[in-house]
Amino acid sequence: MNSFDTVNHTDNISFYKNNPAILKQLFGNNKLKSLWLADMDFKVPEAVSDEIKRLADRAIFAYEFNNNDVFKALADWYRERHNLHLNSDMFIQISGVLTALSVIIQEFTNPGDGILIQTPVYHQFASIIKKTDRRLINNPLTLNDNEYRFDTEDLKNKLSNENVKMIILCNPHNPVGRVWTKEELTKLSEIAEEFNVMIVSDKIHSDIIYRNNKFNSILSLENRNHIALLGSPAKTFGMHSISNGYIYTHNESIFSRIQSKVESLFLHHGNVISNYATIAAYTKGKEWLDELTMYLEKNIEWINTFIKREIPQIKLIKPQGTYQLWLDFRELDLNKNQLNNILFNQAQLAMAPGHWFGKNGAGFMRMNIASPLDYLESSMNDLKQVMKRGLQY
Ligand SMILES: Cc1ncc(COP(=O)(O)O)c(C=O)c1O
Repeated sequence: MNSFDTVNHTDNISFYKNNPAILKQLFGNNKLKSLWLADMDFKVPEAVSDEIKRLADRAIFAYEFNNNDVFKALADWYRERHNLHLNSDMFIQISGVLTALSVIIQEFTNPGDGILIQTPVYHQFASIIKKTDRRLINNPLTLNDNEYRFDTEDLKNKLSNENVKMIILCNPHNPVGRVWTKEELTKLSEIAEEFNVMIVSDKIHSDIIYRNNKFNSILSLENRNHIALLGSPAKTFGMHSISNGYIYTHNESIFSRIQSKVESLFLHHGNVISNYATIAAYTKGKEWLDELTMYLEKNIEWINTFIKREIPQIKLIKPQGTYQLWLDFRELDLNKNQLNNILFNQAQLAMAPGHWFGKNGAGFMRMNIASPLDYLESSMNDLKQVMKRGLQY
């Protein structure tokens, strides 16, 4: 039995995903199987927990900053895993990806400027744009033959007319699981360059890539001067509540401005436990990640086969990366409340409703699959039973 099979998280109610008050607030029901949040049930690599134990035993936490070792570990990781050559002096540490995004928005745009996102997309992008008093401009993805793509005509149109100063790219794309190709990124980047718009690329999911796909960073392109990359070990190694984030750019002027801003807010100190855990993850976590990716791929295969055989009314948009599944319920022709009722009250499954991620997410549900297979099997069987009974709205 694989170690990924043996975890049991369901009774830990201090985890956000299981907390009854949060479940009640979000889904109107506090007795639900939790499949909605993009985190992992699995234990982190042993090298990471060993490092945290070492520090706990040492029990001395004098000022200690080892950011340069973190940056070296990151640069080595990118080179070896993604064939991407980054300069370890051009990383900036910060407390998380969302903090990074907020800082960059505030440094490079002004209130009232347009910031463009591509829905359905991680809902906090819209939330940060609104909270920082910028204007949310949407360039929805198109869906044809079960594949999401950029709509480049609409993009040009929005960049011409909406005073857009920044594009937030999600690569790989949460929630639809696309891993953007080099051609797609080149096109996007050429258009951004034409309109003199900065691209901020959130690549937090870039290490969870499935067979026959390759993570392409926008930083590997020719015209890469107007780009900032945001990342974190959180999704890769299950370090959701213990990791710092980082920013990278090739552009020295962008780098200096972000660095000054981050330092002025004193956001760069980091946390030494996160730092050592990050170094351990990136230097010793490769085999663990390979095993995890294989495990997730098996989960996807099992669910895909099950859905096709048992509940064919639902369609799975197969992900190229990320551990989020995007399930298409539109054939059932239900409104939002009816679909929520089936999931949250009848099947008792907490999935993230697609409309959280933008209007064009309506009729979909996002399901997290970084869980033991037996948990996913029993969840899908619960859904099947409800479908078999005949839908009751
Ligand atoms: C695309 C994306 N960016 C950022 C985050 C959160 O990043 P952090 O916790 O480092 O702020 C998530 C979490 O789900 C995400 O999916």
